[in-house]
Amino acid sequence: MSTSVDNIHALEWREQELRVLDQRKLPQKQVYESCTSCECVYNAIHSMRVRGAPAIGIAAAYGVVLAAADRYKTDPVGWKNRIGEDLEKLAASRPTAVNLFWALERMRKIISEMGNDDPVPILLSEAKGIHEEDIAANHHMGEQGAKLLGQADGLLTHCNTGALATGGYGTALGVIRSAYRKKSRQIYATETRPWMQGTRLTAWELKQDKIPVTLVTDSAAAYLMSKGHVQWVIVGADRIAANGDVANKIGTYSLAVQARHHGVKFMVVAPTSTIDWQLEQGAFIEIESRKNSELLGNYYSDTDEEIKAWNPVFDITPADYIDVIVTEKGIVENPNQDRLGEIQ
Ligand code: MRU
Repeated sequence: MSTSVDNIHALEWREQELRVLDQRKLPQKQVYESCTSCECVYNAIHSMRVRGAPAIGIAAAYGVVLAAADRYKTDPVGWKNRIGEDLEKLAASRPTAVNLFWALERMRKIISEMGNDDPVPILLSEAKGIHEEDIAANHHMGEQGAKLLGQADGLLTHCNTGALATGGYGTALGVIRSAYRKKSRQIYATETRPWMQGTRLTAWELKQDKIPVTLVTDSAAAYLMSKGHVQWVIVGADRIAANGDVANKIGTYSLAVQARHHGVKFMVVAPTSTIDWQLEQGAFIEIESRKNSELLGNYYSDTDEEIKAWNPVFDITPADYIDVIVTEKGIVENPNQDRLGEIQ
C-alpha cells in the first residue's frame, strides 16, 4: 500500500471525522478507524491505536473539534459550559507526553476567546495548524540534526519516533531520514520491549522508505556499542523538564548510560511542544505504568500471587547524559536550565 513517508499518516482529518491508523495492527495490517466523537479519540489514545507524543497531542486537538461539534449541535447557546468535561476526558487518556496537555491548552485558549458562533471552523483550523506546524518542525529538525551527525555511520534509535508518532516525517527518525538521504548509513533500531514499537513500527516505516535497518534486542545495545558499531544514539522525547531531563520510552536511560560509557554521542530530538517549562526537573514527571500482562504474556496470569511484574513504560534520562537536544527553535548542546531557557 504505502510506499514512502509521504503517505504514512497516523492521523487524517476527512470532512467531519478523524481517521486513525490503528498502530496495534501494524505491521501486518493497515487499518484506519473513523472517529466522529471525543470519546472515540480518547479511546484511540488510551488504547495506543495512536501513540507517540506529538501524534497524541494532534489527535487530542482534533478530539476537541469533535467534542465542540457535538456540544454545539445539542446546545448552540450553552455549549461552552460542558466542553470542559471533554477536555478533561482527553487529558486523562495518557499521563506522560506533555504534547497532549500543550495541545489541549491551545484549544482551550481559542474556546475561551470565542463568541457563540459555530465553533467548529475556528477550532478545526487551530487543530490543522497544530498538525501542520508539527510536520514543518520535524523537517527542520531533521535537517539540523543530520548536520550534527557529519559522516557518522552507525546510528541507533529506540521506540518509534517517525511519521507514525508525529504529524509526519518524525523527530529522531526524521533526523535519521534526513541523514540517510545525504549518505547511506547503518541504522540500528531496538525492538523496544514490551510493546515492540521498534520492531513493529520503526522497521516497517523505514522499509516504506527503502532505508535498510537492523533490529537489535534492547539488551544487545551495550554490546553493539562496545564493538564500535554506533556513533550516535538518536531518540525522541515525551516530556522534557526545564533543566533538560528527558522522559522517553523505557530503556532510553539505559541507552544514555551505555552511550556515555562507550563514548557514543546521545541526541534527543523533540519539538518545543514537548518541553514542560513549568517542571523544574525530570523527577516530577508522571511516568505511565501499563498492564502487567504486557510482561507476563501467556506465561503467567496477572493474578498470580508469586509472580508479579513492574511495567513503567517511560524513564527519565538526566540532562547530564545528553549531548544535544534538537528542537525546531534551536539546538541546545549539553543542556541545562540556562541553555534550554535560551530557546523558550
Ligand atoms: O508509548 P508510546 O509508543 O506512545 O511512546 C512513544 C515514545 O516514547 C516516543 O519516543 C516519544 O513519544 C517521541 S515520538 C516523536
